Amino acid sequence: MIASPVVFADRMLSLGLARVSEAAAIASAKLIGRGDEKAADQAAVNAMRDQLNLLDIRGTVVIGEGERDEAPMLYIGEEVGNGEGPEVDIALDPLEGTTLTAKDMPNALTVIAMAPRGTLLHAPDVYMDKLAIGPGFPKDVVNLEMSPAERVEALARAKGCSTEDITVCVLERPRHDAMIAELRETRAAIKLITDGDVAGVMHTAEAERTGVDMYMGAGGAPEGVLAAAALKCMGGQMWGRLLFRNDDERARAARAGITDLDRIYSRDELVTADVIFAATGVTDGSILAGIKTQPGWVESETLLMRSKSGSVRRITYRTPIERTGL
Ligand code: FBP
Repeated sequence: MIASPVVFADRMLSLGLARVSEAAAIASAKLIGRGDEKAADQAAVNAMRDQLNLLDIRGTVVIGEGERDEAPMLYIGEEVGNGEGPEVDIALDPLEGTTLTAKDMPNALTVIAMAPRGTLLHAPDVYMDKLAIGPGFPKDVVNLEMSPAERVEALARAKGCSTEDITVCVLERPRHDAMIAELRETRAAIKLITDGDVAGVMHTAEAERTGVDMYMGAGGAPEGVLAAAALKCMGGQMWGRLLFRNDDERARAARAGITDLDRIYSRDELVTADVIFAATGVTDGSILAGIKTQPGWVESETLLMRSKSGSVRRITYRTPIERTGL
């Protein structure tokens, strides 16, 4: 007799996912401001993996710390979970913002998403051109084919405001100098971030809280899939196109099974089924508070979301400090 597949019980699994991101954030907290990106990332990786392996899933890491020969843990293709539940895809970034953590700068997060097997894009470790806006706008009101200035103008029209009242979030990189100069011509405000474009994209979904209307620019493709998972839960539109700089990067795409190198992926093509998403603040940021260490206690804040229900939980977790290694 063939056993029937175990369904993806996202409601049950989501609370477990919050524990995974909480544990990673707490583990990396002792390395905030210590100037050691690698150690901070390793602490988050170890804790995330230990917690993931307690979950009732047959999970495969599809977005992880790198390819098998590059990463000893949480590499792409690694099997995680206790092997007893549904087959799921896992996308994770145990520490999104290693430099932000090492330098004690805002918006470092731990991030993880889980979805039924085969429903998250296996994005290779290359750049992705990204564009995102929050909920409440007509479908495709902006797109990746428009110039940066056209996007600002289209969004201002849809919002019923002047281009001056639009704020665009952009990673501060030399590769974005021309785009930033063009955006300046529109008189839109630009929020420049030094790292952390998952948080950058998420800012658009909570524009009242963050003041950010639109995210654009090139960042990591794996982070693009995680950001799409977040927006699928929070509401908002996103598009991504992979960018290749050389044959090695094109070979990475081939290994990931990607044949159309110019394709523009919408949010729901990056994440094709219902997904659950958890992120915990490591350093304080505009979306999440960072880890707080008080005499006797450690406190974290986690955003836990399910696209199926549209539910968004903010979970404050407090635990005795002696249980945390801090
Ligand atoms: P890490 O935390 O892995 O260092 O990534 C941070 C990050 O800023 C991502 O948010 C972003 O997608 C990517 O790096 C941008 O890459 P680059 O630093 O090469 O411009």
